[in-house]
Amino acid sequence: MNFELTEEQLAVQQAAREFAQTELLPGVIERDETQTFPLEQVKKMGELGFLGMMVDPKYNGGGMDTISYVLAMEEISKIDASASVCMSVNNSLVCWGIEKYGTEEQKEKYLKPLATGEKIGAFCLSEPEAGSDATSQQTTAEDKGDHYLLNGTKNWITNGNTASVYLVVAQTDREKGHRGINCLIVEKGMEGFVVGKKENKLGIRGSDTHSLMFTDVKVPKENRIGDDGFGFKFAMSTLNGGRIGIASQALGIASGAYELALAYSKERKAFGKPISQHQAIQFKLADMATEIEAARLLCFKAAYLKDQKKDFGKAGAMAKLFASKVAMDTTIEAVQIHGGYGYVKEYHVERLMRDAKITQIYEGTSEIQKIVISRELLK
Ligand code: CAA
Repeated sequence: MNFELTEEQLAVQQAAREFAQTELLPGVIERDETQTFPLEQVKKMGELGFLGMMVDPKYNGGGMDTISYVLAMEEISKIDASASVCMSVNNSLVCWGIEKYGTEEQKEKYLKPLATGEKIGAFCLSEPEAGSDATSQQTTAEDKGDHYLLNGTKNWITNGNTASVYLVVAQTDREKGHRGINCLIVEKGMEGFVVGKKENKLGIRGSDTHSLMFTDVKVPKENRIGDDGFGFKFAMSTLNGGRIGIASQALGIASGAYELALAYSKERKAFGKPISQHQAIQFKLADMATEIEAARLLCFKAAYLKDQKKDFGKAGAMAKLFASKVAMDTTIEAVQIHGGYGYVKEYHVERLMRDAKITQIYEGTSEIQKIVISRELLK
């Protein structure tokens, strides 16, 4: 076992850290306040190769390993979790899904521009009545011979307006249950496809989360991913990897809050000395650092297994379950260490606390992660 990062991994970590500090930090408070998507910054992330990190270079990707992806996600999430969720969805749901299961034509047409960030992707599984219970899809994709007729509504879609390539899960044959579900690649601009209202959220307020409406949208058959009826398995398999991205996002939110609290505790004086010299604060810092390290190791383990082409479903779910709890606990303690200053916007930690909550909800709630983990344990 080797806990050392390679030179290449360290370089990726450093590049992500610099990018986050110079490009994302300025304006992050205002973007949160005004719910502004970091469009220019995401464009630069694409130019730097952060949007298709693990994609094969022959499809314009970075050809990097998943450990590098975890490192970059952590650094970017320390500063701006709204930018990092866009990065996570594009990398590990959309690019990975098309690269692993798409046809050569789909890779040429969609993966190449997605890997460079020229196009942004969205993953559309959730519906008003189907969140955790993902098999009960109400959106339909009626088989019309050479195309599908898509009808329905999707909810809570990350990159909902910014995206131009959407992976949409829909029911084709209800009698077949989850084996009658398909996933279709839908393009913005297809007739009958409308981007609905933007959600006004507690956290990740710079991320554009929308509902989407499909009315008699004609989607060519060649845009189906995998065989007829593969859509649900596709979604589950893709989410297994997506959870490594969200776990790393949670890790970054936690370590960002910890770093701010550590620095603040050395500056702020109370009772005649820096608060870092009080045991009450030292114990908080010790707990935070220990839990963050454990979360990081779970992320690395899941990433390692994925890179080794071993089963990583349980490890990814464990990483997300644990890291998202650490994100919540750590950000609450970071606010506490900052006292009154932690409760106002300028010190960043209140935003990180609000951002942390979503990591326990999207790409499978913590309760769903426990289902995934326990099913594996009881196999
Ligand atoms: N990996 C691969 N295949 C899986 C799987 C996994 N983790 N989990 C289930 N499957 C397969 C099963 O093998 C089964 O196939 P077969 O019958 O052919 O063997 C099929 O999928 C159906 O599985 P179940 O019978 O277990 O289905 P279920 O209804 O009991 O529930 C669930 C499964 C795990 C609860 C699932 O519904 C689930 O994961 N729900 C959460 C959905 C979710 O994560 N949504 C997030 C939305 S996306 C998002 O948030 C993106 C964003 O924008 C940030």
